[in-house]
Amino acid sequence: MTNHSRRTILRGLAATAVATGFVLPRVSIGQAARIKLGLMLPYSGTYAALGRNIDEALRLAIAQQGGKLGGREVDYITLDDESDPPKGAERASKLVNGDQVDVLIGTVHSGVAAGMVKVAHDTGALLIIPNAGLEAATGALCGPNIFRTSFSNWQPAYAMGKVAAGRGWKRAVVISWDYAAGKESNGGFAEAFTADGGKIEKELYLPFPNVEFQPLLTEIASIKPDVVYAFFAGGGAVKFVRDYAAAGLPKTIPLVGPGFLTDGTLQAQGDAAQGLETTLHYADGLDLPRDKEFRAAFESAAKRDADVYAVQGYDTGQLLVAGLNGVKGDAGAKPALIEAWEKAEIDSPRGKFTLSKSHNPVQDIYLRKVAGLDNKYVSVAVKALADPARGCKMA
Ligand code: PHB
Repeated sequence: MTNHSRRTILRGLAATAVATGFVLPRVSIGQAARIKLGLMLPYSGTYAALGRNIDEALRLAIAQQGGKLGGREVDYITLDDESDPPKGAERASKLVNGDQVDVLIGTVHSGVAAGMVKVAHDTGALLIIPNAGLEAATGALCGPNIFRTSFSNWQPAYAMGKVAAGRGWKRAVVISWDYAAGKESNGGFAEAFTADGGKIEKELYLPFPNVEFQPLLTEIASIKPDVVYAFFAGGGAVKFVRDYAAAGLPKTIPLVGPGFLTDGTLQAQGDAAQGLETTLHYADGLDLPRDKEFRAAFESAAKRDADVYAVQGYDTGQLLVAGLNGVKGDAGAKPALIEAWEKAEIDSPRGKFTLSKSHNPVQDIYLRKVAGLDNKYVSVAVKALADPARGCKMA
């Protein structure tokens, strides 16, 4: 079936459900069966800690509901995607066509997520993205069956571009790994920064997941920009922040970035990260009861501190709960499930959010500053920021 005709059918079914006010009951074979969730995440490599927090926090949200979704027990099928883009589609297809999961969940790396989005389009499988910011997932390649509980790469980046221009900085160097997330993050920063009078002096890239930063740091030192904006995450972010400090650059050239640069990494970054300012849809010290409750529960279950990835995993669990409770566990009732997800208001540790028409969170982006082991909340950098969803035909 073509995407177009499948969409038309889904829309038609949804419209009927809305018009008649009820969803056809499906008390057939599947009803007593268990819900199968396919978790495709990096369980190894530079993003392993991110995948682990998403996994454990997602399970926590469901455990808090007695371990059930819509009254049905849950089976978790996990697959390590190794943050390896060429194998993304094949691995996603194994979960959808082989294991026949009810919902495909993943992943962290935008390049791997592209393969998952393709499989979602080809098969109509329900996909929830708990991290990867790939803009096309809720942009040019958006779809009725594709949802994201995290962010688009544009969102925190755009907010930092505004903050940086507001500081009066004029000349920036942007640096990242050479793949979708890095390029999109640098693009979002550049969009806001140049609109407010700044100039991007140079874009520096190295292949993912390389950490040979030295030649690039030498180049930064010779360019002497007013500010450096960097997208790195996980193990790579730890090394970049340490190398930047070891090169003596922070004294003269402030380093900023999306919050991934310092989230879940502070213990390992130590003194090198102190004082760094970043923007993200989460922060330490938000002073929300929901956040305090979540952090206590996560820390007691996982025996480590929560971070933005844990929040995103937890909210993916919360979205599953909202949707599958809404359809009484009938994961086959796709139009009704999609409608429930579209209407859901997620009571997130980051603050409440809803999804845009293109299925991406509309959320506050916070400015944070590292103090000790905290990415301490400073202010709201941009309120209720929605991704522009460029090219999304559904919106
Ligand atoms: C991405 O590939 O989109 C990505 C990876 C890690 C992050 C954020 C975004 O922390």
